[in-house]
Amino acid sequence: MDSTPKRAAESATEMVQVVLPNDANPLGFILGGTVMHLIDIAGAIACHRHTRSLLVTAAVDDLQFLHPIKVGDLIILKSRVTCVFNTSLEVLVDVYSEETLTGRRQMTSRAFLTFVAIDRDGHRLKVPPLLVETDEERRVCEEALARRAARLRRKSEVARSESLKSEV
Ligand SMILES: CC(C)(COP(=O)(O)OP(=O)(O)OC[C@H]1O[C@@H](n2cnc3c(N)ncnc32)[C@H](O)[C@@H]1OP(=O)(O)O)[C@@H](O)C(=O)NCCC(=O)NCCS
Repeated sequence: MDSTPKRAAESATEMVQVVLPNDANPLGFILGGTVMHLIDIAGAIACHRHTRSLLVTAAVDDLQFLHPIKVGDLIILKSRVTCVFNTSLEVLVDVYSEETLTGRRQMTSRAFLTFVAIDRDGHRLKVPPLLVETDEERRVCEEALARRAARLRRKSEVARSESLKSEV
């Protein structure tokens, strides 16, 4: 993989789509699962642009749905790489609704995801460094270390409880 350092701006991605009836529940609001799918895609695109490799999603952090997004509204997803580790990288995805007729925008969700870079045989690949340019980018990247530690702790808790179950 090309190991030239990259700026977050080089891989930052914005996805926009209109919410159609097919995406909605009987109340006319977009399904949570559809939003989760789009978050995964928006996060993956930014990470693909950063690594130019194959990737798998390793983790999605805590996800909240602050406001419903109605059929006919736009859903906007903005993703940017926030921190790079060794073979994994963290990406932030912010989700907004926009009313088509008024332009009113609201943030509806925010999620941090972790992707792992792999080759076609599933071997892990080292990810190019991230050039941190602003104080805000530096802060978010520094905080990523604590988020990563919490994720890996949760992962081993889940793995431990699974192995306890299989012993029963
Ligand atoms: C994600 C996956 C590759 C991790 O493999 P693993 O053998 O458990 O992990 P490794 O020890 O090789 O770690 C590889 C990297 O992933 C990171 N990682 C692994 N699990 C993680 C998790 N749950 N959260 C955050 N990071 C994680 C590790 O910290 C390591 O990062 P680093 O190299 O930057 O330090 C593996 O569990 C997997 O393939 N899971 C299924 C992925 C999938 O199907 N996703 C949905 C469809 S794409």
